Amino acid sequence: MPGNDAIKISDSIFWVGVQDRETDLFEGLWPLPYGIAYNSYLLTGEANILVDTVKGQFMDSFLDRVAQLLPDRRLDYLVVNHMEPDHAGSLGVIRRLYPEVKIVGNAKTAEMARSFFNIDDNLITVKDGETIELGNRRFTFALTPMVHWPESMVAYDTDSRTLFSSDIFGGFAATEGGIFDDEADLALVTGEMMRYFVNIVGRFADPAKSALARVKSLDIKTICPSHGPVWRRDPAHVIGLYEKWSLQETEDGVVVAYGSMYGNTRAIAERMARALSERGVSRVSVYDMSRSDLSVVATDIWRNSGLIVVSCTYNMELYPPIARLIHHLESKKMRGRYIGLCGTYSWAEASLREMSDFVERGKGNWMLVEPKISIKTSPKGDEFETLELLASNMAAAVKRQ
Ligand code: FEO
Repeated sequence: MPGNDAIKISDSIFWVGVQDRETDLFEGLWPLPYGIAYNSYLLTGEANILVDTVKGQFMDSFLDRVAQLLPDRRLDYLVVNHMEPDHAGSLGVIRRLYPEVKIVGNAKTAEMARSFFNIDDNLITVKDGETIELGNRRFTFALTPMVHWPESMVAYDTDSRTLFSSDIFGGFAATEGGIFDDEADLALVTGEMMRYFVNIVGRFADPAKSALARVKSLDIKTICPSHGPVWRRDPAHVIGLYEKWSLQETEDGVVVAYGSMYGNTRAIAERMARALSERGVSRVSVYDMSRSDLSVVATDIWRNSGLIVVSCTYNMELYPPIARLIHHLESKKMRGRYIGLCGTYSWAEASLREMSDFVERGKGNWMLVEPKISIKTSPKGDEFETLELLASNMAAAVKRQ
């Protein structure tokens, strides 16, 4: 179909992926305001090799692109870097359409191919670091377990020096016509890439660090990830970003996240933000957790060295939007950031207690900035000074970074 053309990366490597501008929530959780790309790549030559597929609902244009490049309908290999259905969703159909295709994966890929698709033949199982010949190409495979599934791996075409990096270096946002880094709006791309990293990969930042060490040992000319643009102009740029994020390196800024029902707690958060600015914190972001997207807030918290949480109490528990935030931060295993806490209540204190429990459970992941503050209804008298003291201590902490 016109419009479904493959896009040439080199004389024998083609992008055959799809743009998804219809799905609202990735994994049913994370908003996709700019859509998302599911990238798949076809390498032609002595052997025709497909690297990953696409989400099942979007396979029509993908299959069309593949078919255009394979006029004799011969597909020799399908390299499966990752079995999550946004990439492996069309695997079963590819096997039916190209029954001779050999699926290349690792032992865990094979297990999942059986489980998802009942496929247990024509499988080639590779080991970590193994190099195999596929037609006239030599592929080296590196297993990258838990980045972000156990079977995740990357594939490196040694002759073209192309890394097929799967979710690593991937991001939200469909590509807007241009699929290459030199054609893209890099501010949008890297912002959505970081949101993807924090919310999809973030829990596994340490395995990502190990994966990155493997990747950095390769002589890379082009990075072809499973989401987002192909990095042909400056792959080192995206490697540098990933390194910073996986090391949880932060910048000097403070996020103020609050939960408020009637505005008294919101006023404390706004006061705190102003006090931080007055003390020279150059970047302060304020989020109403009843109305802010969790993935955006978590990304900002990952970026910055300070967080102040201001929350009311609800039904003798932590206010649900703040409880959700705290659960997310805990599940992402964030560490190395300063945190300040202010809880409010009208008749039964719970918010400060539950937030303090979260910091204690973290066993040093978060560095508590004193004083912890508990306020009944709204601040009075000395409590204003206590709030100012928390702002001063937080400003001093993040500026020392
Ligand atoms: Fe893009 Fe983990 O799938």
